[in-house]
Amino acid sequence: MKEQFEQIKKDFLIALDEVKDTLMLEELEQRFFSRRSGEMTTVMKNLKDLSNDARKEFGQFANVVKKELQGMISERSEELKGQALAELEKKETIDVTQPAIPAEKIGHMHPMSIINKELEELFTSMGFMVLDGPELESDYYAFETLNIPSHHPARESMDTFYVKDNPHWVMRPHTSPVQVRAMHKYGAPLRTVVPGRCFRNEATDGNHEHTFYQMEGLIIDKDLSISNLIGIMKGLLEGILKKEVEVRLRPGHFPFVEPGFELDMKCFVCGGDGCSACKHSGWVEIIPCGLVHPHVIKAGGLDPEVWGGFAFGLGSMRLVMQRYGIEDIRHFMSGDMRFLNQF
Ligand code: PHE
Repeated sequence: MKEQFEQIKKDFLIALDEVKDTLMLEELEQRFFSRRSGEMTTVMKNLKDLSNDARKEFGQFANVVKKELQGMISERSEELKGQALAELEKKETIDVTQPAIPAEKIGHMHPMSIINKELEELFTSMGFMVLDGPELESDYYAFETLNIPSHHPARESMDTFYVKDNPHWVMRPHTSPVQVRAMHKYGAPLRTVVPGRCFRNEATDGNHEHTFYQMEGLIIDKDLSISNLIGIMKGLLEGILKKEVEVRLRPGHFPFVEPGFELDMKCFVCGGDGCSACKHSGWVEIIPCGLVHPHVIKAGGLDPEVWGGFAFGLGSMRLVMQRYGIEDIRHFMSGDMRFLNQF
C-alpha cells in the first residue's frame, strides 16, 4: 500500500514539473484528486477494505502524502499567479509620458452642431432659453395654432410629410410649432430659441433638402418694434460670421406673422456675384421673420391687446453654408467623409 502512495507521489512530482500554467495545474489537480476518478482518491478509497490496524496506519500515511501534494499545488498556484501578473505588468505598462492622441483624430463635431452650439451660446447670453420640440408634430401645433387652417393655401407651400393614414400627425415642416408650445408652457414675457430638424417633401437642389435645420426664435413682450428685430438679427449674423454682414429686408408672407419679412444677407460664398448657394441672385434668404400675429398670441393663451411678439425662423443650415463656403446643401446628408473631414 505504501508503495502505491510512493508511486503516486513520484508521478505527481513529474507531472507537477511539467505544469506551465494554471490550466495545466487544474488538470493535474483533477488527475490526482478528482472525487470520482482521481488517482489519489481511488487509492484512498481502497483503504476501507483493509483491516482496522492497517487502515489506521496507511490512513495516516495517506493523509500526510495528500496534504504534502496539495500544499505543492497551492504553492505552484501562487507562483503561477505571480508570473501572470508580472507578465501583464510588462505588457500593459502605461507610459504616462506618451503624448495623448489628439481629439480630432477620434472624431469631431458636425459643422451643423458647431453652429448650433455657437448660436445657443449667443442667444443664452442675450437672455434667451433654449427649448426643444417634437419632430413628429401634431397638425394642431404645426398649422392650426399658427393661423393656417386646413383650407389655407400656405399648407400647400409647406410640402409636408403626413403620417400614413393619420392626417393629425406630420413630420414638422418648420420649427414654428414651438412658438405656441412655448407660450402654453412658459407664458409671457418670453425669450426662446429652438434649434431643430425639419422635413419637407422638396424637389432637392443645391439650396433645398428634404431634411434641414432651422432655429426658431420667439420674443413675447410689451412694446416690441421692427427695429429691435433687425438689430438682433444683424448682431446674430455678425456674431456667427465674424464679419460685417449686409442685410436687406423684404416683405414676406407667413400667416403667423403680421407684418412678415424676409431678411436676406449678401451671399458670403460668392460675395454677391451669384452662385448655387444663393440661387445666382447674390442674396440669401436667411431669416424669415415678423411680428407675431394676434391669432397666434391668442392661441398661446395670451392677450394680444397686452402682449406683442416677434418671431424668426433662422435657416441655420444655410448659415453653416455661408460660414464655411459650402455651395451645395446636399453635402450635409451625403455621409461623404471627404466633406465631413474638413471640419
Ligand atoms: N416657419 C417659417 C418657415 O419655415 C419661417 C418663419 C418663422 C417665418 C418665424 C416667420 C416667423 O418657412
